[in-house]
Amino acid sequence: MAEIVNESGGQMIPDYKLVPHKGFNLISGIHSPEEVEQIQNWKIRDTDIFVITYPKSGTIWLQQILSLIEVKGDATAINDQLTSERIPWIELMGSEEKFVSAPSPRIRVTHLQYKFMPLGLKKKKGKVIYVARNPKDVLVSYFHFHKYATMLETPKDFDTFFEKFMEGNVYGNCWFEHIKTWYSHKDEMNFLYVTYEDMIKDLWSVVEKVSLFLGKTLTPQQVNKVVEHSTFKNMKDNPWANYQMIPRSLLNHQHGTFLRKGTIGDWKNYFTVAQNERFDRAYQQEMKDVPLSFIWDMS
Ligand code: A3P
Repeated sequence: MAEIVNESGGQMIPDYKLVPHKGFNLISGIHSPEEVEQIQNWKIRDTDIFVITYPKSGTIWLQQILSLIEVKGDATAINDQLTSERIPWIELMGSEEKFVSAPSPRIRVTHLQYKFMPLGLKKKKGKVIYVARNPKDVLVSYFHFHKYATMLETPKDFDTFFEKFMEGNVYGNCWFEHIKTWYSHKDEMNFLYVTYEDMIKDLWSVVEKVSLFLGKTLTPQQVNKVVEHSTFKNMKDNPWANYQMIPRSLLNHQHGTFLRKGTIGDWKNYFTVAQNERFDRAYQQEMKDVPLSFIWDMS
């Protein structure tokens, strides 16, 4: 743990900083480069499931959906533990010990780039679900998250954050690199690609697709239940699913909420015409060889 530098609201706040490790920013105080290095050697079981996201792409949403699929939609079976504990991040310090001893199925999330992942995944052990979101909405969501997350530096304003994001000077680094490296290796793994926009437009179909990928047979009524308990409104009101119990040393709940807006196209309320043109140019350049597209607005 990094040095404790101040005290706020009765809780000690570590000295969080972005620390580059092999070209990827880790956060001192919650990540350890030595432990992240070990992830490649983790022994993977066929039943392991990894959800991969660039930050703000709907990780918390998948945590809720996968928790519910496991119990066939019976929310009473999961509303006794935080989703972040049931489906934890692999890059957080101390995660290996819990991973090794956890019963199957071990479901985990990560924002790490492909190069850090357990080598067993490339031998088609375990399953990988990559969740992508229109990067303009990711940028806006991440801007708000930086004001709320204690471990991330609060940006001066939106324009400053826009530059940081475009430079990849954030946790998760460059959005383009994240998606491209994962997607280009998809055939090596048991890999499912889903988008946030598909989930907004037709959550039922995505839940069904994810269940089938995981080899779980849910009745239509059970899929209905999963959908019902993973709507934006129901998650926002559910303290087990909405992260409001995450300690102040990580999230300052006075400055925001994890379930903020939950829509497609909020970028239109933030991007200037010049920023939008610049983003489009970067997107066209970076994604020219990648056969992926996004819904950029609700219309
Ligand atoms: P916004 O900030 O745009 O609202 P992550 O978990 O990867 O950090 O992603 C958080 C984003 O996913 C937030 O986006 C949050 O509101 C959105 N989200 C989470 N659950 C959702 C749901 N059930 N429906 C729609 N959006 C959801």
